[in-house]
Amino acid sequence: MSTKDNTSLNLPVENPEAEDFLPLLGTDHVELYVGNAKQAAHYYMSAWGFQPEAYAGLETGLKDRVSYVLRQDKIRLVLTSPLKPGGDINRHIERHGDGVKAIALWVDDARKSFEETVKRGAEPYLEPEIREDDNGKVTLSGIHTYGETVHIFVERSGYDGPFMPGYRAWEPHYRAEPTGLKYIDHMVGNVGWNEMNKWCEFYAKVMGFAQLISFDDKDISTEYTALMSKVMSNGNGRIKFPINEPAEGRKKSQIEEYIEFYNGAGVQHMALATDNIIKTVSDLRDRGVEFLRVPATYYEDVLDRVGEIDEKLEPLRDLGILIDRDEEGYLLQIFTKPILDRPTLFIEIIQRKGARSFGKGNFKALFEAIEREQESRGTL
Ligand SMILES: [Fe+2]
Repeated sequence: MSTKDNTSLNLPVENPEAEDFLPLLGTDHVELYVGNAKQAAHYYMSAWGFQPEAYAGLETGLKDRVSYVLRQDKIRLVLTSPLKPGGDINRHIERHGDGVKAIALWVDDARKSFEETVKRGAEPYLEPEIREDDNGKVTLSGIHTYGETVHIFVERSGYDGPFMPGYRAWEPHYRAEPTGLKYIDHMVGNVGWNEMNKWCEFYAKVMGFAQLISFDDKDISTEYTALMSKVMSNGNGRIKFPINEPAEGRKKSQIEEYIEFYNGAGVQHMALATDNIIKTVSDLRDRGVEFLRVPATYYEDVLDRVGEIDEKLEPLRDLGILIDRDEEGYLLQIFTKPILDRPTLFIEIIQRKGARSFGKGNFKALFEAIEREQESRGTL
């Protein structure tokens, strides 16, 4: 079978090792705590092509915070800012800067998901609660994961209003063209020294995930810096969480830099999938999104390494898109520079053409590009 057929189906990577007792149906949304949700929402619309979906704030009866919900195909972002001093959101922003607070997972039964995971050792974050309005009901529950990040279980039970009860439709005049982003391919967590295995065990024991791939410091090192990574996934393969920890090198690992500026473990990047990476990345670049660049020499021998591909090399080289191949096909990927002032969160754009891996062949070129950025920040 050609890799093309595989891609058009967008088949998830099934992980037969995983015990999918929850089960997880997909990512419901990602919530970021940010300093100024109104302006952040404009950035995700104008630069990234997200569409306005829902809003909650003073006008909907909230007193202390505001949330904007944005959507592009299956990707839903919630941007939340505090309206008053004090409280958990302010403290989170003061400590971490803007960052991912919740990776919300879509389930059939939020109460059962809470009970099953807490029984297996998860620390409760949100006791199961039902939110209801004229459009139906949504049940939510939540548990803690690495750092101050949490997982919210969302049971939608046929809810057909804007986002969830408590929100109203958000219909501004301004709409930006979507950029072709389809779904969340994976969400990566950075954790501290010697904590990778602990969190992989957490996903195995508490969530029933199994390990898909492991990279040690020999796979992921340059002359100067190193990290280690394991990829955990659930049974139907819709949820993939690589977990990184720093490794010893001659200079400071990019994971250490992250931990220093985020003040602890947290989400390092979201990988967003597209069916046309050349179009998506040129749109994003035109709208001001900045990407990491590898040296031009990368393209001199890349096709010797990855073999034949459907795309022309020229636009890939022009945009700085990277290519890698595994036994099942190839993938195209590119990474933004940090999308915040702190060198913490960034976004990966990925197009899979059969490959189920994560771009191991690009790690060295990529991490050397990151080192050059670290060098310019004085954090290498
Ligand atoms: Fe990634």
